[in-house]
This record gives sequence, structure tokens and C-alpha cells, in this order.
Amino acid sequence: MANPVIFVIFGATGNLAKKRIFPALFALWKQNLLPPKFKIAAAARTPFTNQVFRKILPQHLEIENKERWDEFAANIDYLPLDVARDFNLKDLSLFLDDFEKSLGSCAQRIFYMAVAPDIFEKAVDTLGKNNLHQNCAHGKKPRIIIEKPFGRDLKSAQSLNVSLIKYFAQNQIYRIDHYLGKETVQNIFAFRFANEIFEPIWSNQYIESVQVTTAEAIGVETRGEFYDKTGAMRDILQNHLIQLMALVAMDAPEKFEAASINAKKLGIIKSIRKLSASEIKTGTVRAQYEGYLLEEKISPDSQTETYALTKLFIDTPRWQGVPFYLRTGKKLEGKVTSIIIQFKEKDHKLFEGQKTFPNHITIQIQPNEGIGVQLAAKKPGLSMELEPVDMEFCYKTSFDTPQPEAYERLLLDVMLGDQSLFMSEEAIEEAWKIIDPIEEAWNKNLVPLTTYKPGTWGPKTADDLIKKDGRRWLAPILTICKI
Ligand code: BG6
Repeated sequence: MANPVIFVIFGATGNLAKKRIFPALFALWKQNLLPPKFKIAAAARTPFTNQVFRKILPQHLEIENKERWDEFAANIDYLPLDVARDFNLKDLSLFLDDFEKSLGSCAQRIFYMAVAPDIFEKAVDTLGKNNLHQNCAHGKKPRIIIEKPFGRDLKSAQSLNVSLIKYFAQNQIYRIDHYLGKETVQNIFAFRFANEIFEPIWSNQYIESVQVTTAEAIGVETRGEFYDKTGAMRDILQNHLIQLMALVAMDAPEKFEAASINAKKLGIIKSIRKLSASEIKTGTVRAQYEGYLLEEKISPDSQTETYALTKLFIDTPRWQGVPFYLRTGKKLEGKVTSIIIQFKEKDHKLFEGQKTFPNHITIQIQPNEGIGVQLAAKKPGLSMELEPVDMEFCYKTSFDTPQPEAYERLLLDVMLGDQSLFMSEEAIEEAWKIIDPIEEAWNKNLVPLTTYKPGTWGPKTADDLIKKDGRRWLAPILTICKI
């Protein structure tokens, strides 16, 4: 990548920047994947100097090896400004111009909105009003990265889109969902479409149900202010989990490129049935971990859920009648993200009177990344008895190359102008159409908020829901690659 790049990170002192963005840029730089000439403008409200910011930043970064940090940090300049209030944006314009003057050419400008989601729209307007959406003469058009959640409902997402397209064309807008950058998530394409054996059985004829889980052991930590306004449904289910569901269920794209992939994903998201009030009552769960109300910056009578579950159906001939259980929660017993596909149990005449086992495919997104197929095998011995066994592909043992972090991959794609792992405007809006009725019903208390103990696998109401359907939770029981 030869063209110079300049990143402007709004919200540079925030959790996301410290936890994910700076570590990813540092890692790319160490692998020589940033262009020889690049700059990072770290923008936030606190009045730091360059020196102070460069010094304190590494203390907060979640990375192990900080060797060569100073060399990298020489490319970071701190700019105190407030993008929501349009304060000091002139400094940013001057900074960009100065850098480009020093290069004698234009750089690819990349704006990263790592600010609170409720100020995205104002921030985009500020950029436009300060002409920051314009390119340097003869230069490439700036690109803008918008974090999730993109809006808090359909209306606000549409309004944010209107503001964005006032200043930026669609091919300049990168709506990020970092789950799409995870190696294991990208492998769903290879697994499903590069192996002939799965596609013929990938339908309601063979598949009984699907469970998509993102469990986290951490609580809200220092993100109380953001989280209390957001909740598990908007933070994870509306984006990460619906995207995973779409990848599992979509038809094969014609080509491995943005337009093709997004069209197929959109086809699925559009076909997800919008739940009726009675389906919301029986098919969703909202819960809060005990002790949440005592966390920093949480309203004392908060009704925000830290656990969300919904059962969804895709109204297409291929998926008719197959329930997809999507669930996520914080402060659970462990961290795991997986997609588990349960196959139908056949009446095996041969094994009449014996306990049989349905097949499962586990796509383990994290940790212990890999894919497992659970089969029934004959238990060694003189009688014919069946037992479930695992056949596994594990990243750790199959490859000795480390997996790049999702943000490394996605930031590289923004620099390269590749949007295939980013969300489209339509997909986001369609996802809100599924979530809005649930949020509305929850607001009316149609589904009471229950609680759960930290360190468990969630509320009893979630266990009851799946039990009523005659099923059980498969994650983390079917966790694979435990070596
Ligand atoms: C983010 C959410 O999108 O994903 C966080 O805002 C969550 O609340 C995080 O902790 C989880 O990401 P990962 O990559 O650790 O699974």
C-alpha cells in the first residue's frame, strides 16, 4: 500500500479506541501493512498535549508487546476538539492540509467515528459544515467509518443515513460490525460454499434448529453511560447476531465482492419474520444481571437488559419452520460465541429401542476457534450402543499462522476500499424492522424484565423458553477445540 493515509479518530480517548482501534493500527504497522507515509490524528475533548497523549495511551492499551511503541507513536498527533459541538474543527482542517503539504501530495483521509452513537449524526453534520467531506484537490475522496449500533431504531438509522449521504457517497461510507472481520466468521463462507457436502443438507429438510450465542464474562465495565442507553439487544443482537444468522442462512453469492454478498445477506434479513405481540411474549427474554444497578453511571432504576434472547424464523422455502435462537448476555459464566446447527433426528429402524443422537455442526467463533461435527458412533464393546463423538477442525492445530484481529482486517479493507465485510444501509434498516417491535413491546413491559446471577449462563426465563420448545441450550455444552 503505497498511497499515504491519514486516520482521524474521533473519540480517541474512549474505550473502543483504546481497546481495539489503536492496538489494531499498531499491529498493522508492525506487520508493515500501513503505508510508509501515514498519520493518525487522535481527536477528543480532553485537552491533552501530543506528548502527554502519546505517553499515557500505551498504559491503557490492551496489548502485550509494546516494543517499538514510541517509534509508532511519533505518527500520532492529539487534537483537542469537540466534533459534536463543532469546536476546534478548523485545527483539524489545518492539520490535514499541513500533513498533505509536507507530503507534497494528497493522502487518503479516513474518519473514524468512535464516539457515542447518539452523536454520530451531529458529528457527520459538523464534518460536512467544515468541508471535511471534500477531498484535497486531485486526491481520493475521504472515507468515513461508522461504528455500531447504527441508530437506535429504524427512524434514527434512516435519519443518520440521510445525513451521511448529504456529504458522502455510499462507496465512501464503511458501516462497521467487527464480527464480520473475525477470521472464523469469514470462514463460514469457505466452509459453506467451498465444500460440496454441506449445501444439499442446508435446509429445513435436514436442519431442525439453529442457536447463535454470544456470551461474555465481563460486565459493563467503564461503559455504563453508553450501555445503559443501549442494552444487549441494540449492542449485540441487532447487529452481530443478525449478521451471523444471515451468513449461516444466505444463498451463495455469485462473486466474493461487496455487492453480491450484501444482496444475498439482505435477502435473508428481509425475510426474517417480524414478530407479533404474542410471539414476542412467548419468544423473547430480557434480563439484567444482579448488581447491574450498582455499576458506574447506571441509572438506579434502570430497566436496561444485559441479556437478550429472541427466537426468529426466516420465511423462505429453504428455512420455513426452522427456529433460530439468538441470545447474548454479559456477566455470564464464560466468554463464547458460537453458531450451533442441530440436525433432525431420523427414525433409524436399525437402532430401534436405543438412544440415538442428532447431528450437530458447531461453528465456534471464539474462543477455541474451529468447526466441529457431532456424530453418533458405536461405543466399543460387545453390544451395539451409540454414543456422540466429535470430529473437529481447530485453528490452533490446523494452522500455525496467527489469526489477525477483526479490527486489523477491517481497517486494512477500508484503506484498500473493499466494502465486502461491511454492513449495507438496507441491511441495517431491515434489522431494525425486526428489532423495533420487540423493543416497543419490551418498553410496554409486555415481557417483564427478569434477573440472573452473575457467573451463571443466564436467566431461568431463557431456560424455560427453550424447554417449552422441547429443546435445550447447546452452548457451551458443545464447545469444541478445548485443547
Ligand atoms: C461490541 C459490544 O460490539 O462487542 C461490546 O459493544 C462487546 O459490548 C463486544 O463487549 C464483544 O466483542 P468481542 O470481539 O470481544 O466478542
